[in-house]
Amino acid sequence: MIKLEWTEDFNTGIELVDKQHQILVRAINLLGLALERGSDKELMDAIFETLADYTATHFADEEKLFEAAGYPESEAHKHAHKMFLQKVTELKAQFDAGGDPAQEVMVFLIDWLKNHILGTDRKYIPYVLGSNGQMRMAG
Ligand SMILES: [Fe+2]
Ligand SMILES: [Fe+2]
Repeated sequence: MIKLEWTEDFNTGIELVDKQHQILVRAINLLGLALERGSDKELMDAIFETLADYTATHFADEEKLFEAAGYPESEAHKHAHKMFLQKVTELKAQFDAGGDPAQEVMVFLIDWLKNHILGTDRKYIPYVLGSNGQMRMAG
């Protein structure tokens, strides 16, 4: 199978965010394995569990960071996160009802990686990091 490797291009320079984004890359690789194994049920359960954790933790942390930094597009970004959660919930429901959305989950996550992690997420970086590339400390 093709393994998606984390590269420098994915780095935001914000350690917490990068660590969390790596979880999504791992989920994509796990999904590749699940697809190879005919949507292996156990793997699919693990992937949906990972995605649930990811959305709960990462989105909340990211939103806290950019809101504290006064990022002007906070609302639109939070809306995108909500849409992600909605889509994942929908795909999980399909899976629970006996459907096989693995391929659709893959397309969706790859698209998210390209457009959100490598696009939308990059826009708040200069607000969260100071001009020296270090985290701005509150207070
Ligand atoms: Fe993110
Ligand atoms: Fe985001």
